[in-house]
Amino acid sequence: MRALQWQGVNRLAVGDVPDPELRNPGDAIIKVTRTVTCGSDLHLLGGYIPFMQKGDVLGHEFIGEVVEVGPDVRRHRVGDRVVVSSFIACGSCWYCDQKLYSLCDNGNTNPALTETLWGQAPSGCYGYSHAMGGNAGSHAEYIRVPFADVGAFAIPDEVSDERALFASDSASTGWMGADLGGVQPGDVVAVWGAGAVGQMAARAAVLLGADRVIVIDRLDNRLRQVEKHIGAETLNYEQTDVAGELRERSGGRGPDVCIEAVGMEAHSPGPQFGYDQLKQQLRMQTDRPVAVRDAIHACRKGGSVFVLGVFAGFVDKFPLGALMNKGLTVRGAQMHGQRYIPMLLQRMARGELTTEHLATHVMPLSEAPEGYRIFKEKEDGCVRAVFIP
Ligand SMILES: NC(=O)c1ccc[n+]([C@@H]2O[C@H](COP(=O)([O-])OP(=O)(O)OC[C@H]3O[C@@H](n4cnc5c(N)ncnc54)[C@H](O)[C@@H]3O)[C@@H](O)[C@H]2O)c1
Ligand SMILES: [Zn+2]
Ligand SMILES: [Zn+2]
Repeated sequence: MRALQWQGVNRLAVGDVPDPELRNPGDAIIKVTRTVTCGSDLHLLGGYIPFMQKGDVLGHEFIGEVVEVGPDVRRHRVGDRVVVSSFIACGSCWYCDQKLYSLCDNGNTNPALTETLWGQAPSGCYGYSHAMGGNAGSHAEYIRVPFADVGAFAIPDEVSDERALFASDSASTGWMGADLGGVQPGDVVAVWGAGAVGQMAARAAVLLGADRVIVIDRLDNRLRQVEKHIGAETLNYEQTDVAGELRERSGGRGPDVCIEAVGMEAHSPGPQFGYDQLKQQLRMQTDRPVAVRDAIHACRKGGSVFVLGVFAGFVDKFPLGALMNKGLTVRGAQMHGQRYIPMLLQRMARGELTTEHLATHVMPLSEAPEGYRIFKEKEDGCVRAVFIP
């Protein structure tokens, strides 16, 4: 079958790989019908997560049709239209019992790398390097889905492909940020990053009853999308004193909940950017935590900061003093898709959560390397490039 393969730092190509086969009784084989780029893939493409091997198939956000099921699969039949959580979970370990699916003990078949790096291994993800299980990704004609009863969900007829697709990863991630970040009715919520993840976090905060939701970025087309489709306010960090403006909009206190949806390749306008970038390139730090610093600084005393952006290792100038003295709660996580997808599909069916505007570019899988280039450069207003295998 045809698949998009990682061929080295900033090198992608569509090539032939063997068709996936059932390996365990709970597996299903899915014919991928839509799969989409994610900001997380850029970290792999740029070599910031150094556990890719030449030939690995990328992609973790997808929908498709069930074409084969193992003997233990009960909830799905051949022909079902399904959306699949980007993180893989067994559904029966201690962490899955706590609904912390991306921390599942059985979803990562290669836990040694992350155990060494972080003390314990999170679960596995599709197309997300050998640190996350080395699973083949979804930018391919077919994909093997382990624990299909736990990770795949039937898509209601009322929900379009373009909408359901984003339940797989960005919408679940965004919802998790607002939910575990503790958004309460009446809160002021600030979100850094107006990519698909930040937009979905902002929409979740709106739907959870936040009084004001403010999204921060510098890309005008994305900020316009936020105003039009998400129903949130915006701030351009290149034109505004963000911390001051956030205080203004929150009765002088600062936001109750700050959600960071930028990640390890954050940009910043000041001289600090060059400093952070140089240290990262010299491998003196693995990540550029610009937006995390800003969120901790802006957050009201006693507020909460949720880190959705992906980070790999160590950062420089982490404001531990502000965190401690301001009594902040800081959390982060990879997405617990299995916990949110059924609810998100219901909201999508009711029209409360729309995502079509995120799919700014749609193209055949054969054009995926160009799609990634446009997405990486944020060219032509690209928010997400969707591939049709
Ligand atoms: N936790 C999870 O499970 C999970 C799931 C999906 C994605 N992610 C991560 O979420 C992050 C965002 O993903 P995405 O797909 O929306 O990415 P994206 O690249 O499309 O968007 C990132 C946005 O952040 C903006 N930005 C850069 N520096 C900024 C700054 N200092 N302040 C404010 N905005 C800034 C960029 O202009 C861009 O619009 C990535 O790090 C990705 O890896 C995490
Ligand atoms: Zn993702
Ligand atoms: Zn589990």
